[in-house]
Amino acid sequence: MKAAAVYPGKHSTGLANIDEPKVMGPHEVKLRILTVGVCGTDREICAFEYGEPPSGFDYLVLGHESIGEVVEVGPEVSTLKPGDLAVPMVRRPCNHPECAACRAGRQDFCYTGDYTERGIKERHGFMTELVVDEEVYMNKMPADLREIGVLTEPLTIAEKALEQVLAVQKRLPWGCPGGEVGYCHKAVVLGAGPVGLLGAMALKNAGFDVVVYSKRPAPNTGAEIAAKIGVKYISSQETPIDKFALETGNIDVVYEAVGASQFAFDVLKVLGTNGLFVLTGVPSIHAPVTVDTDTIMRNMVLKNQALIGTVNAGKQAFESAIADLGAFNRKWPDAVRALITARYPLDRFQDPIESHEGIKSVIEIAK
Ligand code: BGC
Repeated sequence: MKAAAVYPGKHSTGLANIDEPKVMGPHEVKLRILTVGVCGTDREICAFEYGEPPSGFDYLVLGHESIGEVVEVGPEVSTLKPGDLAVPMVRRPCNHPECAACRAGRQDFCYTGDYTERGIKERHGFMTELVVDEEVYMNKMPADLREIGVLTEPLTIAEKALEQVLAVQKRLPWGCPGGEVGYCHKAVVLGAGPVGLLGAMALKNAGFDVVVYSKRPAPNTGAEIAAKIGVKYISSQETPIDKFALETGNIDVVYEAVGASQFAFDVLKVLGTNGLFVLTGVPSIHAPVTVDTDTIMRNMVLKNQALIGTVNAGKQAFESAIADLGAFNRKWPDAVRALITARYPLDRFQDPIESHEGIKSVIEIAK
């Protein structure tokens, strides 16, 4: 069967012919892959700056954002049956007995760094026709979300961030009048790519007062999607950071989804009292930049601020993402569909990797 592959040693990408995987264990599930998303991580892997093939292979099968249809299950599988839709998780635990996180099923917090990731680090990905994996890494997707289910994995970034926001803010009395969290809190989303816009949807759906702050002036597709979900869009080219902060009021949460460190740390300077700044972007390494550390440190202390990073996502975040996708589909069916701006067949997988336009490009492998 065909698979989208990257050959780091040869500095090339192309379609590989690989063997069909077989269900070998009692807990295994075989999926016929329907759709696979392309993201910045895939572009970095194809630029040979990131990612690693499994040992013994000179290539890595790409793809970590996916949805598939179950075609076969092992005899002990109880939550899925042929015909069901499922989204597989990306990260697999390390083998070290002392890694408390991996041993607790929270490989998104792996201590050793020896985790593996499908389509990224030492495990083949999902940009192929059939894949087999353990039931425990599969998440059942309702049939009515078939068309947009590929957005689950990028949405898990926001779901885990939200989980972290609620956990970290337990450090202080954070409830709104009436006791709830959310509606009295201002959340700023940095970036209007897929991770940013899905984050804006998740934060809005959780009740936050959300503003998207992104580079490009409106009109553009991201700004249109923000408008469709009732979220303000402000361009950083038109409104500089200090003016933006003044107009926005106390910024309770910043959800960063641009991967540009200078911009992120410039915005950190205007985080509000008791505010929490969540970094999700992974920048490529450039020359060091200048950051106003005195102001940042002074604010962080005097305003009780917190800065955290978050990577990958656990089972709970996949489950919340699936539930939230259902909610977005009911509330904003057009906006959530508008995130997928291009669909390509498998043999053209390099096109959206080489030239990036729109919001989310996907590879359609089967219907
Ligand atoms: C993926 C994560 C992964 C991270 C780092 C992201 O694109 O969504 O699952 O942990 O890259 O490899």
